[in-house]
Amino acid sequence: MSSKTVVITGGASGLGLVMARHLVEAGHGVVLVGRDATRTRHAAERLRGPRSSDREAVPPRTFTADLEQWSQVRALAAELAAGSRPVDVLVNNAGAAFPRYEQTADGAERTYALNHHAPFLLTHALLAEGALAPQARIINMSSFVEKRGRLDAADPDVAGTSWGDRFYNQINVYATSKLVSLLAARELAHRLPDGMSVYNANPGMVKGTAMNSNAGGLMRLTAPLFRPFAVTPDEGVRTPVWLATASPAPRPSGGFFSESQPDTPSRLALNDTLAGAVYTRTAALLGVAPLTR
Ligand SMILES: NC(=O)c1ccc[n+]([C@@H]2O[C@H](COP(=O)([O-])OP(=O)(O)OC[C@H]3O[C@@H](n4cnc5c(N)ncnc54)[C@H](OP(=O)(O)O)[C@@H]3O)[C@@H](O)[C@H]2O)c1
Repeated sequence: MSSKTVVITGGASGLGLVMARHLVEAGHGVVLVGRDATRTRHAAERLRGPRSSDREAVPPRTFTADLEQWSQVRALAAELAAGSRPVDVLVNNAGAAFPRYEQTADGAERTYALNHHAPFLLTHALLAEGALAPQARIINMSSFVEKRGRLDAADPDVAGTSWGDRFYNQINVYATSKLVSLLAARELAHRLPDGMSVYNANPGMVKGTAMNSNAGGLMRLTAPLFRPFAVTPDEGVRTPVWLATASPAPRPSGGFFSESQPDTPSRLALNDTLAGAVYTRTAALLGVAPLTR
């Protein structure tokens, strides 16, 4: 097995850090992106396992960015591109759900900024910088709750700002941000250079990460109800780790995957016309040159 260079956002904690541990143990090189430099460096140090066979000669490289800010996502891409090795796998893992409507400095709804804009922008900026390997895989962390997405198929809001005018239901906003990301990835699969793939990984309902406890609001209140059915973080990362490392590359590109196999998302997520509209609107919003089909 050849060693891959895997960039993981949200790599300092939660599923990102667990994923990093699995990949390091399997002999791959990881690069951790966190939003706090000290915590991210500590996380990288911890990846040098207690057994010498698990230990990397040097701890993984770390980068810091607040991925809710478009300028910081662009700066991160430039820093990653300046690194010596091309990126074989980009795991867009950082994600969150927020209990109330808030806008970022860019004028986007926060959940959309982190869960949809950051993966889209980072992927396109790395492509534009020539930082992705020819067979690169892009893995977006998705969710089974995308089925609760509320999107006007005739006029899809990709900035998330319509939630300022409608009832802000935290779970529905989170779900819709994941649905929009899923649609953009469906279209991206048709536009990526030959050899590259994009996947949406559903970890299932996971207990023991900060996702539900930090989310506040409805998500935090309802999380205990689902805990008996939840999987551990080690189980939750199986699908993204498999997507990152399986040989040959899993199919279909653009697909939704659960339990290390293709899964069927909501009917809306399979709408090709909508996927095209979401892709081009998101590219325009973020000032990204759309890839040609
Ligand atoms: N847990 C579940 O049940 C579940 C289910 C379906 C999908 N997912 C998805 O899986 C992914 C990981 O979730 P998780 O369970 O590991 O949640 P988590 O423990 O809350 O981890 C989220 C990660 O994102 C980072 N992050 C949050 N806001 C950020 C920002 N503004 N800029 C940069 N990084 C930021 C966090 O950094 P800090 O360490 O600084 O907080 C953390 O590393 C998410 O995309 C989530 O939507 C999770």
